[in-house]
Amino acid sequence: MNLSKNQYIEEILSLKKENNAVILAHNYQLPEVQDVADFVGDSLALSRSAEKTKADTIVFCGVHFMAETASIICPDKNVLIPDPSAGCSLASSINANELESWKKEHPDALVVSYVNTSAEVKALSDYCCTSSNAVKVVNSIPEDKTILFLPDMFLGSYVSEVTKRKNMFIWPGECHVHAGIKAEDINLMLKKHKNAEFLVHPECSCTSSTMYHIATGDLLKTGHILSTEGMMKHAKSSTFSEFIVATETGILYRMQKENPDKNFIPLKNDATCKYMKMITIEKVYNSLLNNVYRVKVPKKQADRAKLAIEKMLSIG
Ligand code: 13P
Ligand code: SF4
Repeated sequence: MNLSKNQYIEEILSLKKENNAVILAHNYQLPEVQDVADFVGDSLALSRSAEKTKADTIVFCGVHFMAETASIICPDKNVLIPDPSAGCSLASSINANELESWKKEHPDALVVSYVNTSAEVKALSDYCCTSSNAVKVVNSIPEDKTILFLPDMFLGSYVSEVTKRKNMFIWPGECHVHAGIKAEDINLMLKKHKNAEFLVHPECSCTSSTMYHIATGDLLKTGHILSTEGMMKHAKSSTFSEFIVATETGILYRMQKENPDKNFIPLKNDATCKYMKMITIEKVYNSLLNNVYRVKVPKKQADRAKLAIEKMLSIG
């Protein structure tokens, strides 16, 4: 059915009521998808709202591992993703076999997996973490315990730097979008926008140099390494009126909408995640109308993965 954008929105709102459904959307989703969502946030906040919802159906507007996480947390709910091929280059950088072999090399280590991993990898992990709580999770582990941190090498080196942890091995995975954000890009933008505050996601390849700049107060007077939701909160409370945002550009829509008097500049205009953008308003409508595409993690795998997620949720 070919409808106008407004008609799709109307239909979605009525189907949502009819099906007792809730729509959760990640901060990188298309503007019109964010607008029909009941809740927009980062991966941690989305996990929390999946945990709390009373709805029977969750339409998860994000990438596949995020919908899997919702299914693990809420095994009795009908979790749908509007496009099942919305993957994640970072989550695909490690599979269960690779993790099993890595664990064999370090039999006494604890595994901390970033939430951007498949359910099968989470099921082999001791802890899960997101970009907003990775430091807290690692700090909660006794110092003498070796840690295998996966799959993001930039987040991993950021965490090991902040926690001063020496016994931490890091998987060499990366997100194609954030790995493309380099120190040179930052230096150029900072020279151009001297009065701007700088917000950077810890998955970016520039993270280590950013930390250096923050520490030395060199080029960078005001820099903050934050999760997408951390960026949202910071943009609201900051006294600055101009910001350079180093992450996927989808977040700028919500930032600008919630802070109309402030100015947000993407560090790189082409930092877009093609997987996040696969979820369109038409597909959200189709998902609710036809009850597709169900994401159901097998019980045994879900039970094991849930332990790692619950450990993370209890830490913060
Ligand atoms: P956040 O948890 O900060 O939302 O990040 C998720 C993600 O996929 C970043 O690319
Ligand atoms: Fe995955 Fe990168 Fe897209 Fe985030 S931006 S969902 S880490 S591919």
